[in-house]
Amino acid sequence: MYWTKKHVMMCTSLHCNQKGAMDVLGRLRREVFRRGLDTEIMVNNCGTIDLCDIGPNMVVYPDNVIYGGVTAADLPDILAYLQGGPVVDRLLLQPRSNFEGKRRDFYDDMVNQGIDNENEALELAKAHDLDQTFFDEQFRRGFMARKPIEKSDEMRIHPTKKALTRYGLLDAGNRADDF
Ligand code: FES
Repeated sequence: MYWTKKHVMMCTSLHCNQKGAMDVLGRLRREVFRRGLDTEIMVNNCGTIDLCDIGPNMVVYPDNVIYGGVTAADLPDILAYLQGGPVVDRLLLQPRSNFEGKRRDFYDDMVNQGIDNENEALELAKAHDLDQTFFDEQFRRGFMARKPIEKSDEMRIHPTKKALTRYGLLDAGNRADDF
């Protein structure tokens, strides 16, 4: 890193890329150059930051800001922020931000209600306005896992340590090993 004031890293790994990250990155780079900001703002791509379900994701240092679900339409607000304007709240990853809050509530209910049946968990997800795509992705991304029930062909499911950590549930005395 040069002595720039801010360093932007846009994830261009698989999931973010499938949702347009390279296009956003290219546009942002061009605009930073066009405005002559490249001595103050460095823009790079990076590999996954493990928030694939809410991508495309962008991290800004030293601000400790993570933006999720970034599209080209968000770039005017992001550029204004990079030039000293307000943080773009609608994109900001926080425990209670729009896209994170309902996921957190879903996992919180799943743990506290002791749900380990896949169909029940899917219904719970839908009750939190989360769809089948979200639900399937939880298994692919390692947030939920299936475990065979002894002496049965059926499986039970459980949130992994990764999910419990992300959604602040380890502190509540819930340990992945208990599931
Ligand atoms: S692919 Fe971008 S966070 Fe995983």
